[in-house]
Amino acid sequence: MQFPRNHDLAPLVREKLEHSPKERFLYISHEHKDHYDPDFLRTLTKRDFTVVIGRFRRTALRDEFVAYGAKRIITCEDSQEVPFKGGYLKLYLTDSGTNRDSALLVQADGQCFLNLNDCKIHDRLPALVAEEGPIDVFTAQFSGAIWHPTCYDYSREDYAEHSRQKRGSKFEAVARAMETVRPRVYLASAGPACFLDPSLFHINLEPVNIFPRASELFTFLQHRLAGKTPRLLEPMPGDVLDAGLGEMVTLAPERVTDENVSQYLRSYAALQTRVFRERRRNLMLEEVDRIHERLREEMQQKLEAFSLADRVMTPLYMGLIELPGQLIRVDFRSRRVEVVSEVRDLSRYTFISSAADIVRVLDRKLNWEDFLLSFRFRASRSPDVYDASLHNFLAAEIEDLRAMCDTTLATESRKERTVVTAGGMRYAVNRYCPHQGADLREGWVEEGRYLVCPRHRWRFDLQEGGSCGTNGCSIKAECLGKEKDEDSRGATVEQRPGM
Ligand code: FES
Repeated sequence: MQFPRNHDLAPLVREKLEHSPKERFLYISHEHKDHYDPDFLRTLTKRDFTVVIGRFRRTALRDEFVAYGAKRIITCEDSQEVPFKGGYLKLYLTDSGTNRDSALLVQADGQCFLNLNDCKIHDRLPALVAEEGPIDVFTAQFSGAIWHPTCYDYSREDYAEHSRQKRGSKFEAVARAMETVRPRVYLASAGPACFLDPSLFHINLEPVNIFPRASELFTFLQHRLAGKTPRLLEPMPGDVLDAGLGEMVTLAPERVTDENVSQYLRSYAALQTRVFRERRRNLMLEEVDRIHERLREEMQQKLEAFSLADRVMTPLYMGLIELPGQLIRVDFRSRRVEVVSEVRDLSRYTFISSAADIVRVLDRKLNWEDFLLSFRFRASRSPDVYDASLHNFLAAEIEDLRAMCDTTLATESRKERTVVTAGGMRYAVNRYCPHQGADLREGWVEEGRYLVCPRHRWRFDLQEGGSCGTNGCSIKAECLGKEKDEDSRGATVEQRPGM
């Protein structure tokens, strides 16, 4: 569900896509359902516009548009220029195997618009800005969109602490991006999420979570960027930006504010009650048994395609709420999937959902990542450590797992080193982040010892050999001596201002 609601704009969007005399483009950043609404697109009868999407390894989105019958589909390579009358556009892609996404740049009529949306290309911004020149209008996600810690069984205190850390780190990433891009205008976008399902509505009202509103970001930025803060705008659906003046023309009939947001969400949820009532299903026991068996087969097939299984030390337990006492245990080390009656490992990852929800994945109405983003499951892990391989195993489709493993291995095989300075000392470190290969030369140093990855902001402790607090992986930091020490063993590169 969009937040704020934008359903009233459907006729206007339909009119522009079907009948505008201008060149008409439809850009879809990626296939996640909060960015791509096939139900709405099916209501369009005239489809003589150009669809612009990224050229991802997984072709599912492209295949859908081929079947859809758009007049023209442009699948853009990373940074490929797509000209149109008065300017051009470019997409910047990420494609990690589990996650595909794109950012959009539009140069037109002397103005430049860069929309990162929720695409993590922060490490590429310096090069992008150098190539494209001044960016007038900039947007980037500022609010969380991941199931950790929301779907995990934490104490109230731990949940609040994890949430606070994630919010702070995300805000800092926006501030850093702003320092690089130096736009005239920043538009708050891609968040926060809202939860209208009665079973999830309570998330909206939590005192601390990973879904801050734009006003909280703006307060942070005004303090953090001081005199260098661009104009900060929070558009409502239907507002129009005058890019030349950097001003918003407020046309939206309703505005969500800090004061009315709770009431707004309650009335929005009330309007959607029917949607959630209709999707509720009471399953017969035989149906639940069948779903359980299909889930076991799905895990078996995933495991067979998962060449990095040896890396996952903890077994995964998957269960259905409707079938307590029958857990699917995935043992990555022995490559076995079995059904057990209880959790029997101290080190383990557990994942519980309802059969009625997970069958949508098994029926291929949702992919795994969409399902995880629906937040309709509960998880726990012991020890409380993020395991990227296990995460990828859960989030990837069967047919993508092999490519995802290959991508991981390719990332790890990049051996280039770089040098960073922190706390007056110089360190040689691996240049590329072990998570998804972001360029750590575009990272930053916190507390004089932690090198922070610009993409998902993992922190590597330079004083502890470059180990990462998130999961213990390492960038192999080697101290080269004091800054300005002429005898320090030299390494390659850089010095980013502020590092
Ligand atoms: S690429 Fe994800 S934390 Fe570095």
